[in-house]
Amino acid sequence: MCRARVAAEPAPAGIPVSYRPSTASVNSHMPDLPLANLRVLLGVSGGIAAYKAAELTRRLRDAGAEVRVVLTENAARFVTPLTFQALSGNPVRSGLWDDAAEAAMGHIELARWAERIVLAPASADLIARLAHGLANDLLSTICLASAAPVALAPAMNQQMWAHAATQANVETLRKRGVAVLGPASGGQACGEFGAGRLLEAESIVQELAQLHGPKPLAGCRVLVSAGPTFEDIDPVRYLGNRSSGRMGFAIAQAAAEQGATVELIAGPVHLPTPPHVTRVDVRSARDMRAAVMERIEHSDVFVSAAAVGDYRPGETAAHKLKKHGSALTLTLTENPDIIAEAAAHRARAGRAPLFVVGFAAETRDVEKYARDKLARKNLDLIAANQVGGGLGFDACENELLLLWPGGSERLARADKGVLAHALLERIAALRAKLAPASGPRPRSAKNAARRSRR
Ligand code: C5P
Repeated sequence: MCRARVAAEPAPAGIPVSYRPSTASVNSHMPDLPLANLRVLLGVSGGIAAYKAAELTRRLRDAGAEVRVVLTENAARFVTPLTFQALSGNPVRSGLWDDAAEAAMGHIELARWAERIVLAPASADLIARLAHGLANDLLSTICLASAAPVALAPAMNQQMWAHAATQANVETLRKRGVAVLGPASGGQACGEFGAGRLLEAESIVQELAQLHGPKPLAGCRVLVSAGPTFEDIDPVRYLGNRSSGRMGFAIAQAAAEQGATVELIAGPVHLPTPPHVTRVDVRSARDMRAAVMERIEHSDVFVSAAAVGDYRPGETAAHKLKKHGSALTLTLTENPDIIAEAAAHRARAGRAPLFVVGFAAETRDVEKYARDKLARKNLDLIAANQVGGGLGFDACENELLLLWPGGSERLARADKGVLAHALLERIAALRAKLAPASGPRPRSAKNAARRSRR
């Protein structure tokens, strides 16, 4: 895509450089681009994924951003500054001690220039240095000296990503408001398989567009359930399922990024709490039901992404069950259907009705079962997905079929963060059509529960 470049006005001598808020007026020929006129400082750290940052530079510019690239010294061993200079149309910086480059645009000026810092790929080392506030090279110094929001897309060996030190550093950064994009899961350059791949350039740009764009859910209260439920058999054993909680956590994060006030009811998972999300941890389906119903009245949207156990042991043994040399029979009792009960409480006086979104994870006949649940549980929208083949449960990626009364949409395979934003966009569009008085007719709780059991 071809765009006219606009030279920045030189700052008058003696006045600290406070950059123009936006070039929108001069670049108004590209207002529809998602990152139009956004000044992005792309920081590239050392790792085999550094070559993908070249594609990202192009995509950022295609999305309307003005891009300046800073390479760490290790990144410059994998990729050349010349590549990024050609793609960004701007000089590339690497070292802190380059007199000529500092004279042209000093590192503090660069830090002020940036409206958004994007670190991709972000190595374990860069993440660790940022978490601890180090400023021992140009990129970390700029990050510390800049007030611009930071987004980072990690890329590293799966074991390095899973290491408690990396996870703690990422959590520290998240709590500081850093947006963590990905990582994706799959085959790695080192031959291993797992989470730690750099998100595709297109996905990174999409997520940045969400962070940068309008906040369509501002003022909206979103309640999300996520993860599995565990039903105790005795003090050491339980019935559970393989839900990782990633889809629900991604939805909670995306909703917060879109401006919603978010409460997340999390089953037993070890995932970090997304920034600006209030989390309540629960264990069993009955705990989850109580936590959801306590909050349903003040919520506008309920997304039930949790894989709630349908059954629990009739009773939980007080002591560890012992072997008796013969078969053991467990009698199971049906759990409450949380979403059906929530849907029965959708009507509220003078406000738009609660918008209820369910999930249907199936191993076969996905659409058929999902359509059945949409009607039977009286939902406004259902997100159906096939489980298996690296998708759905315990995976970073998913593909979804969205179904609602009178419509459908297929969301192609993508990172769960990207899908979460697309799902929320659909929710916002469907809610916008519901006037306060014209919501789906509330049914009685008893009626809905009866329908959900059929
Ligand atoms: O019937 P199934 O469990 O597949 O329905 C899936 C949907 O129903 C999900 O949105 C899930 O969170 C919700 N559900 C629930 N309470 C249950 C079982 C499922 O809210 N006991």
